[in-house]
Amino acid sequence: MPVIAVVNRKGGSGKSTFAAHVAAWCAREGLAVMLGDIDRQQSSRGWLRRRDPALPAIAPWVIDQKNVLRVPTGITHVVLDTPGGMHGFELSRVVMFADAIVIPVCASVFDRESAAQCIAELQTLPRVAKGQCRVATVGMRVDGRTSAAGVLRAWADEHKVPMVGVLRETQNYVKALERGLTLFDVKKDTVATDLEQWRSILDWLRPVVHPVVAPETKREAILPVRRPSVLGARPFNEASRSSLTRANVA
Ligand SMILES: Nc1ncnc2c1ncn2[C@@H]1O[C@H](COP(=O)(O)OP(=O)(O)OP(=O)(O)O)[C@@H](O)[C@H]1O
Ligand SMILES: [Mg+2]
Repeated sequence: MPVIAVVNRKGGSGKSTFAAHVAAWCAREGLAVMLGDIDRQQSSRGWLRRRDPALPAIAPWVIDQKNVLRVPTGITHVVLDTPGGMHGFELSRVVMFADAIVIPVCASVFDRESAAQCIAELQTLPRVAKGQCRVATVGMRVDGRTSAAGVLRAWADEHKVPMVGVLRETQNYVKALERGLTLFDVKKDTVATDLEQWRSILDWLRPVVHPVVAPETKREAILPVRRPSVLGARPFNEASRSSLTRANVA
C-alpha cells in the first residue's frame, strides 16, 4: 500500500494544503485513497468534513474499539498529514510506514533552516538512506516576482534532496480549501497556472502511487496510531498518548 507522508517541523509551511491536494489527485486518478491526519489540529479531517460527497471520495481514518486509528478496508493508498515540530520517535515511526516523504518548504531563511534540520534527521534513518522511502521537497507559497524559487532550488541542491516543484502564493489555495475543495476540483481554466506548477510534482509522485513492485504489505499493520487528542493543551507525546481514551476525545 503506497503511503505518502507530508512532513516539516516548521508550522504553517503548507503540509495540510499539500496533503489535501495529493489525496484529491489520487482520488481523481480513481484510487481508493485515505487522507490521515496525525496532526492534533486535525486540519485535514476538518477539510474532509467540508468536502462535497459528490466529489471523488477521500476516506478518513476509522477508529476501532481500542481507540486506534486504522486504514479503512478497501483503501489502497494513504496520504498522511503530520504536525509541525515532528521529530525523533514520531518522525521515525512515520518513515517506517512511508514510501515517500514530501517536505513543503517556504522560502524564508527560517523556513529553510528548519526544513534543513528535518532533512538531516530523515537522512539518518535507514529506510531513507536505503532509498526505500524517497524524500523530496516542494517550494511553497513562492512569490514569483522574487528570486525565491531560485534560492529554494539552490538550497535543495545544497542539501541533496530533489525540489520537485514550486507552488506560487495565491488565494486560489485558500479559497478552494475553504470550500472543501482543492485546485484539482475546480474549473481548470481558473487555476491553469497553478495546475501547471503541479505537473512536475505529480510526475515525481506517479511512480510512488503506481509502483512497479508492490511495497511490502506488512507495514499496513503498523500504520494504526493512537488518535491524537484535540482537546488537551499538552503536546501529543508519550505521556498524553497513554492518557487518551475514546471518552476524552471530541
Ligand atoms: N500556495 C499557497 N498560497 C497561499 N496560501 C497558502 C498556500 N499554501 C498554503 N497556504 C496557506 O498557508 C497557511 C498554512 O498552510 P497549512 O495549514 O497547509 O500549513 P501546515 O504546514 O499544515 O500548518 P501546521 O504546521 O499549522 O499544521 C494556510 O492558511 C493556507 O491556506
Ligand atoms: Mg497542518
